[in-house]
Amino acid sequence: MKIIIDTDPGQDDAVAILLALASPELEVLAVTAVAGNVPLHLTTRNARMVCELAGRADLRVHAGCDRPIARALVTAEHVHGKTGLDGAELPDPTMPLADAHAVDAIIEILRREPPGTVTLCPLGPLTNIATALHRAPDIGPRIARIVLMGGAYFQVGNITPAAEFNIYVDPEAAHAVFRAGIPLTVLPLDVTHKALTTRARNEAFRAAGPVGPVVAGWTGFFERYDKEKYGTEGAPLHDPCVIAWLLQPDLFSGRHVNVEIEVDSPLTRGMTVADWWGVTDRPKNATFIGGLDSDGYFALLTERIARLPGG
Ligand code: BDR
Ligand code: CA
Repeated sequence: MKIIIDTDPGQDDAVAILLALASPELEVLAVTAVAGNVPLHLTTRNARMVCELAGRADLRVHAGCDRPIARALVTAEHVHGKTGLDGAELPDPTMPLADAHAVDAIIEILRREPPGTVTLCPLGPLTNIATALHRAPDIGPRIARIVLMGGAYFQVGNITPAAEFNIYVDPEAAHAVFRAGIPLTVLPLDVTHKALTTRARNEAFRAAGPVGPVVAGWTGFFERYDKEKYGTEGAPLHDPCVIAWLLQPDLFSGRHVNVEIEVDSPLTRGMTVADWWGVTDRPKNATFIGGLDSDGYFALLTERIARLPGG
């Protein structure tokens, strides 16, 4: 399966990228960076560091939008640290950024590849994706599926009481993507809060080949915020759920429902209103995932990370 990873690394984004690069079922056509957890100059840096860590300096990493469509950028250093990848020391990247802007790269790839063969995997705010769809509406029907991490419904928000970070940061972009008529799978907090990095799971990462200790360093760092906040053992390892869903969808369960994005209300900005019980006539536009076999998820992650040779 051919994929484009659109990302704002972030430790959990980094683990998602590693999972994809360790998986022969997936062909990563490009990594496109967006501003989100940290500003763009750091997400582009982090994305390249992760590719190099995986021994994939040959990949194309593109810099994308440095701010949301209609709002000031909100970042999440309180969760991810000031670099976005605090928790493990990695060398500065040496691979260059690709010349093309991420939005142009997304458009070019979708026009070049046969229709229905490329899946988009957004792991951050949806600014690059929405901008590409706006600029080149012909690419919409060519996208096989969008599988994204974002939103929350039965689980409350993590950046405001109502909203999940990725959707909150650029609600206008999310609104456009959810209304685009493209097959959509959504991995919200409802499922990612079942993917908790317990001590045993972190130790399994640490023992998983040359890259494992780096992953354990990241998940250990990530944890300190979430543990305190949610009082759970371990932190939700959000973004790898997207890649795991592609690899092993039977680990997950969900429902095809209508999901709308709140863009007007300051109180509930970025809320993903999912019609779980079908109480409206609004058209179903997304498969909203809620259930997870968490042991299966961490077993998949650990087994794949162990395959990486290191940079
Ligand atoms: C999402 O926000 C970011 O902090 C994480 O990388 C993840 O994509 C979780 O709300
Ligand atoms: Ca992310």
